[in-house]
Amino acid sequence: MERSPAIDDARLATLFAKEAERFAAAHPRAAALAARARASLVGGVPMSWMQRWASPVPPYAVSARGATITDADGRDYLDLALGDTAAMAGHAPAALTRAIAAQLELGATTMLPSEAAIEAAEELTRRFGLPLWQLCLTATDANRFALRIARAVTKRPKILVHNWCYHGTVDETFAIARPGGAAGAAQARPGNTGPQVDPASTTRVVEINDLAATEAALAAGDVAAILIEPALTNIGIVLPETGYHAELRRLATEHGALLIADETHTISVGPGGATGAWRLEPDLLVIGKAIAGGLPGAAYGMRHDLAERIGRELRRDEIDTGGIGGTVSGSVLSAVAIRTTLREVLTDAAFPEMIAGAGRWADGAEAVFGRHGVGWSVTRLGARAEYHFTPRAPRNGAEAAAAVHHEMERFLHLHALNRGIIMTPFHNMALFSPATPRDAADRHSEALDAAIATLIEGRALVV
Ligand SMILES: Cc1ncc(COP(=O)(O)O)c(C=O)c1O
Repeated sequence: MERSPAIDDARLATLFAKEAERFAAAHPRAAALAARARASLVGGVPMSWMQRWASPVPPYAVSARGATITDADGRDYLDLALGDTAAMAGHAPAALTRAIAAQLELGATTMLPSEAAIEAAEELTRRFGLPLWQLCLTATDANRFALRIARAVTKRPKILVHNWCYHGTVDETFAIARPGGAAGAAQARPGNTGPQVDPASTTRVVEINDLAATEAALAAGDVAAILIEPALTNIGIVLPETGYHAELRRLATEHGALLIADETHTISVGPGGATGAWRLEPDLLVIGKAIAGGLPGAAYGMRHDLAERIGRELRRDEIDTGGIGGTVSGSVLSAVAIRTTLREVLTDAAFPEMIAGAGRWADGAEAVFGRHGVGWSVTRLGARAEYHFTPRAPRNGAEAAAAVHHEMERFLHLHALNRGIIMTPFHNMALFSPATPRDAADRHSEALDAAIATLIEGRALVV
């Protein structure tokens, strides 16, 4: 895909090195903690992705409140990453901390159901429409369980996903389209670590917005489920074209495949995610991260008849070893987190302002690119927005993957970090919470303007 303007990699590296020096000078405590961490944590971090921060060492968080993170060097950051959506409710919202503290006094987990779980499920139904729910701890688990249910009900082996999708660490989804292959042909995604089976044998992959390929990939009648994000968000945002979802629904029904909507990130579209806002009709729906306010909690919902069919097949004495569940899944603590976050923090009333904030962020980024003659595009998805290094927003996963420029991303992230702004580490995305301050978008625009000016002055961007 055309990239405009041209990027000079050597000059970009020089500018990046200057920003790295600036960060190092301001973060002696982070450097000391990172040196100590390398002796006890693999790669110096508790979870491998944390190695991907653009700074020489990650900032070490001391507190996160509202939309502000304070680090061990005493610096405050405007947090536009919000824990890659897990903290979309804002950090430590008062209603949630009160409810969780009270529940901890009453016990965290018992292997017994709770009224809080009923209330959480009722709220999920109100928002997303599906009548019956199960709780678990992560969106990854929710996706894995939804796929198991789909295979059990349809008695079919395969799943179909979008090219360059991400649905958590779900084995079958670590596949991309095989170049030059037949419709749906897949190969393992680069970096796929120790797969139990080659995903080429479990998975078909098609582009979002390519209905002809989807129809061809379903034609063999062996696809149990189509698992999608209603808009791609994990290779940058790629929006569905008008009419895409209605046709996808029709194709799924016609070919006997179940449609699973993973709304973990697309809840940014509104209180009921894209399903609520765009009137989608999935058979199952998965959501994690944001709904539990940053605590472990996720859910998957389904139609009545699917629950009944699963219920008929399961013997009571085998339920706990059927591959669905988990000892602390559905705990009262998770249920309280979900109920409270949805009813009191990420409420219907909170969304208009969050969406307006992200809109202002997108307008600001567009204005910066326009002012400097930089032909980059900006895509909006409710309370989330993102820019791509291409003049036209990507229309599918392959275009979005081709638009990625890791070193430019790292420069922009580090430049923002040095000016007190945290961006989502893996791409150029910003997310707005009910706690994000009104001036957040303008602060970002100002920092982005300075970054672009530096890139042009340093001739790393040739406009
Ligand atoms: C769309 C989507 N689904 C599922 C997941 C997995 O969430 P978790 O890592 O909390 O299991 C992610 C994580 O980024 C996601 O973006």
